Amino acid sequence: MYKEKILNLLRASRSGFLSGEELARKTGISRTMVWKHIKSLERDGFGIDAVPSQGYRITYEPDILRLSEIKTGLKTRIIGKEIYIYPEISSTNTRAMEMASDNACEGTVIIAETQTEGKGRRGRKWISPKGNLYFSVILRPDIPLHKAPLSTLMGAVAVTSAIKKACQVNAAIKWPNDVLLSGKKVCGLLTEMSAEQDRIRHVVLGIGVDVNMDPEVLPTDVRMTTVTLMSETGQKINRTALLQEILRELDHWYQVLLHDPEDVLKAWEKLNMTTGSRIAVSGAGEVTEGLAQGLDAEGRLIVKLDDGTSRTIAAGDVTILKR
Ligand code: BTN
Repeated sequence: MYKEKILNLLRASRSGFLSGEELARKTGISRTMVWKHIKSLERDGFGIDAVPSQGYRITYEPDILRLSEIKTGLKTRIIGKEIYIYPEISSTNTRAMEMASDNACEGTVIIAETQTEGKGRRGRKWISPKGNLYFSVILRPDIPLHKAPLSTLMGAVAVTSAIKKACQVNAAIKWPNDVLLSGKKVCGLLTEMSAEQDRIRHVVLGIGVDVNMDPEVLPTDVRMTTVTLMSETGQKINRTALLQEILRELDHWYQVLLHDPEDVLKAWEKLNMTTGSRIAVSGAGEVTEGLAQGLDAEGRLIVKLDDGTSRTIAAGDVTILKR
């Protein structure tokens, strides 16, 4: 907490410099403690000048996610009570599934700066260069097994709301849980679950948001359908602030899922761009074309076919043909 206070005081200093004495006075700790926190910031990768008679000044800020910064002012009930950050990992989902089996507490968040084997839906890869957000959240929702897909929809509602708030952009959900900006994908969610016959043991909600990466690193086919928050807003995005907003929204919408699951569906309907569109859904070796009508109580997509009949689809990839 003091470390973050010192960092923010240095960031806010007009001249750039603040003396050890001033920092000590403003934070209410000793100059020795100030010095210890400065050293800790240096170990985190910050460049800090210490100039006699002027004090300390930040010369370089590393673009990394830091635990103490994420936790500062987070104020969530469940989500993010435990947070682990990895510079590199195979997949945050794989790690979260292991930790969940080892009884990690509900709300644990596993974050990585980059993933070597990031997983996407339907067995695809999730290419994970530095500059974005990759994280997984462990949940143990006490809801019937057949309602488990609502956890994913809840995740999509939370992330979309957070992106809209934090970046002032017009994000929308494509069924089941892609988040789109200007018709291109900016975020994907992958839910994995462990269950008994009729009971959920744990759910891992994996979230990948394309924030500040250089899209050039993506293969051409993926690049064509992907957008980053930086390219959309024209500004480098503060990943910590965005992550905090997503964790706060997840904390809120998780409670809604547990107590009023139909409100998750209502919120999803408001934020989605699939309902009312002519779509093609591919999955299970076939393509279904028709008018997307909305969701059933378990989050499946109801499609009205051209022959007037309806089909309910549990999983697949949607292409929006016409709005
Ligand atoms: C999709 O195909 O749209 C889902 C992509 C999910 C990617 C995220 S990144 C963090 C978490 N860890 C993974 O390996 N996958 C998810």
